[in-house]
Amino acid sequence: MLLPRPVHLTRDGTEPFTLTAATVIAAPPELARVEGWLRGVLFPVTGLPLPPGEARPGAIEFTLAAGLGHEAYRLTVRPGGVRIEAGDAAGAFYGAQTLRQLLPPAAFRSGAVGERDWLVAPVIVEDRPRFRWRGCLIDVARHFLPKPDLLRYIDLLAAHKLNVLHLHLTDDQGWRFEVKGYPKLTEVGAWRRESPLGSRRHGLFDGRPHGGFYTQDDLREIVSYAADRFVTVVPEIELPGHSQAAIAAYPELGNLGDPLEVATQWGVSPNVLNVEDATLAFYRDVLDQVMEIFPGEYVCVGGDECPKTQWRESPSAQRRIRELGLRDEDELQSWFVRQFSDHLTARGRRLLGWDEIIEGGLPPGATVASWRGTYGAVVAARAGHDVITCPFTELYLDFRQSDRPDEPVPIGSVISLRDVHSFEPVPPELTEAEAVRVLGAQANLWTEHIDSPRALDYMAFPRLSAFAEVVWSPAGGDFDDFRARLRHHEPRLAALGVEYRKETGPEPWQTRPDVKGWPRERAETEAEVAAWTRGIRRDLSGERHP
Ligand code: ACM
Repeated sequence: MLLPRPVHLTRDGTEPFTLTAATVIAAPPELARVEGWLRGVLFPVTGLPLPPGEARPGAIEFTLAAGLGHEAYRLTVRPGGVRIEAGDAAGAFYGAQTLRQLLPPAAFRSGAVGERDWLVAPVIVEDRPRFRWRGCLIDVARHFLPKPDLLRYIDLLAAHKLNVLHLHLTDDQGWRFEVKGYPKLTEVGAWRRESPLGSRRHGLFDGRPHGGFYTQDDLREIVSYAADRFVTVVPEIELPGHSQAAIAAYPELGNLGDPLEVATQWGVSPNVLNVEDATLAFYRDVLDQVMEIFPGEYVCVGGDECPKTQWRESPSAQRRIRELGLRDEDELQSWFVRQFSDHLTARGRRLLGWDEIIEGGLPPGATVASWRGTYGAVVAARAGHDVITCPFTELYLDFRQSDRPDEPVPIGSVISLRDVHSFEPVPPELTEAEAVRVLGAQANLWTEHIDSPRALDYMAFPRLSAFAEVVWSPAGGDFDDFRARLRHHEPRLAALGVEYRKETGPEPWQTRPDVKGWPRERAETEAEVAAWTRGIRRDLSGERHP
C-alpha cells in the first residue's frame, strides 16, 4: 500500500494501533519541526489534538537513532504505540509521511468529514532512499504558477518523499523573480502580450496577456515552507540563452540593442545575452540576490539551447573571443558560464547547468543535468562531476501520456506511466565507481502547454508517483506491483484534490479539443538523442575544430 515502495515492510500481527484523544506525540527538540508537521496535518482531519507528551504506552514516539543514516527511518506500529526511529530529522519526516499513508485516505484531506476510527495497521517499515537528489522541475516561466499552488506542489513532492524542487524562474517568455534595483525585470519581463495556442507549428495565438511573479518575500516563504518539508528549492536563472524576457526589460543586456518584447513564441529564441562586463555584473548582482533568498547549495544557471548566431555577428563577442584566445563561440559560452561558476563557488555554492555546459569545457565543480539523453551524464561523471539524469525521452512530464488523440495538447513522444516507472537513473555505461557521481534524477514539468494548476495535475500525476519509486525505492521495482499500490494511492491523491490522469484516460474536461499539439513518435525523439550524443562525442574529440 505504501508509495514509494519502502525497502522493507513487515506485517507485525493483526491488531491495529488507534489514534485517540489520549494519544500524545513524544519527540526530542531536534525533531520539533517534524512533530509540528504531523500534528498540523492530522489535527484538522481527526480533531485529535495529539499534544506533545512523554513517551509512554499509546504515544507516537520519535527518536533519533545513530545507526540509521541520512533520511533513513524505522517505523514500528504496535497496538501499544507507534515508534519512529530516524537517522536525522529528514528521516523522521519520511517516517511521519509513511505513518500518514498507513491511515485511511481521509488523513490526506484538509478537514474532517465525519466521525471515524483512526486505525493504523501493525507493521515494521525499514526505509531509506536510493538517491539523494529526488527532483522535480516546475517551469513557472512559461506559465506562472500562483504561490498557493506552488506550496501545494511542495506538499505533493514531500508526500512522495521527493526532496528537490527545481524552480525554473526565468525564460524567454517570462521573468518571475523580483530583483531589487532592476524593477523592469518584473515590470516588463514578468508578462507577455499573448501566448501560442498549442504548438508553435500552427501559428495560432490566444491574444491574452499572461504574467505574474514572486516577490522576494514570496520566495522566502516558499523556501521556508519547503524546508519544513525537507524539500530544497533549487532556483534557476537562465543564461546566456533563454533570456529574452530579461533583454526585453533591459535591452542593453542583448546583442542588438534594439527593443524586443517578451517572447510570445515557444522554442529557442535567437536573442541571447551579450558578453559585456556590464552584463556579467548585472547577473552577478541577480545571483547575489538569489543566494540571499535560496540557502541551498545549488544554483542553476541554465546554459542550454544558446544559439550562437548573434555572437558570431557581434563585434564585441568576437573581440572577447580574440582577447581571451578562445577557439570559438562554444568556448565563449563556456567562459561566460565559468564567470558565474566562479562567483557561486567563491560564496560556497555550486553551479548546476544543463548538459550543454559540457560543450567548450565544464567549469570546475559544476553539476550537470543530463536532458538530451544520458550521454551528458556519462561524460560528466567520468570527468569527475556530479550529475543528475532527466532525459527528455523519459522524464519530461509535459510529453503526452498515451497515443490517444484526446490527450490534452499532445506533444513529444508517449511517456507512459510504465515508461517512467521503468526509468533507471544510472546510465549503464558507468562503472560502479563512476556511478557514485549520479546524485539522482529529476522529472521535469515544462509548462508551454500546461497553462493552469489543473492541467499541471493531469500531466504530473500519477507519473510523478511512479517517478518517486524510481528515485526512492530499491532498483528493480515491478510495474504491476506499483500499479496495485497505485490503486490505494489514488484515493490519497483524490483526498488531496489532485486531478490526476485516470488509467482510463482524460475526463472530458481534461481534454483540449480547442488546442492542437504536435505529437511525435518515439523513434523521432530517440533519433534526436542519438544525434545529440554523436554531437557531444564529436565536440569532446575535438573533431569539430580541426
Ligand atoms: C531543456 O529542456 N532545454 C533543458
